[in-house]
Amino acid sequence: MSEVLVIGATGTTGSRVAAGLGRCGAAARLATRTPSAPGEIRFDWTDASTHRPALKGADAVYLIPPIGEAEPAPLVEPLLREAVESGVRRVVLLSSSAVTDETPGLGALPRLVRALCSEWAVLRPSWFMNNFTGDHPVAHGVRAGEIVTATGTGRVGFVDAEDIAAVAVCALIDEVPHNTDHLITGPHAISYSEAAAIITDVTDRPVTHRAVEAPELVSRMSAYPPEFAAILAALDVAIAGGAEDRVSDTVDRVTGRPARDFRAFVGSEL
Ligand SMILES: NC(=O)c1ccc[n+]([C@@H]2O[C@H](COP(=O)([O-])OP(=O)(O)OC[C@H]3O[C@@H](n4cnc5c(N)ncnc54)[C@H](OP(=O)(O)O)[C@@H]3O)[C@@H](O)[C@H]2O)c1
Repeated sequence: MSEVLVIGATGTTGSRVAAGLGRCGAAARLATRTPSAPGEIRFDWTDASTHRPALKGADAVYLIPPIGEAEPAPLVEPLLREAVESGVRRVVLLSSSAVTDETPGLGALPRLVRALCSEWAVLRPSWFMNNFTGDHPVAHGVRAGEIVTATGTGRVGFVDAEDIAAVAVCALIDEVPHNTDHLITGPHAISYSEAAAIITDVTDRPVTHRAVEAPELVSRMSAYPPEFAAILAALDVAIAGGAEDRVSDTVDRVTGRPARDFRAFVGSEL
């Protein structure tokens, strides 16, 4: 691979993918709407004139979907076609463990990548451990001492974005293309109550989890458009039903080292 275009390069996974490529000596072109540093190039999903220059000379793309776009295929398909035309051989798509090929909207993207790209991988991470830090609602809950979800006692195979990025880097630069979907989780599936107990134990800051019904969660998420809040609440309800109660050995198998567990993540990141 001579150069990888990293879409979402300033974000949670993209910044880590860019760093991982750098550690491997692979050249990365960092896509952002507001380039300001060497190696960055302007790329905006909503401005097609930025697509060709961003793709020029790249032979692989790390692709995160347009954020918050319920129907992303009309934006992503032309970019994929242009990428293939301009010589991109490999595309690694960040999807989600909660997205299947049948999921309305986002479910179209894995199908497009498999159909249009000769070399590809679809990453299907579970929920990010990193949601417990930064600006995510769960992180706000941690800081307030109470995480509120509609997940009940359901468990999640929380995974560190560093581990997702490590799998992505292998999928981008391994000589043999993966040409598969990767379900990516941490080593254990835990409930939000167990996560809160671990945070309390490790940081000495009391944090609890309160399970509410989906309508209450929606009404608490007034910062989001109601339809988006409803989607997030529905994902919580699926977790309550056991949809994310699973672990995979993908990180170990693909990168050759174990995935970080939640306790270790909290110890170094919170
Ligand atoms: N959080 C979770 O638990 C979880 C679990 C599974 C899957 N996922 C998936 O992860 C994806 C998000 O990935 P992430 O967390 O790595 O991203 P992120 O941290 O949310 O970063 C979003 C990136 O998108 C860029 N961006 C925003 N609008 C753009 C536009 N119009 N054109 C081009 N770039 C734009 C931003 O860059 P600039 O501002 O620099 O332009 C930023 O780098 C979502 O698709 C989500 O479904 C998340």
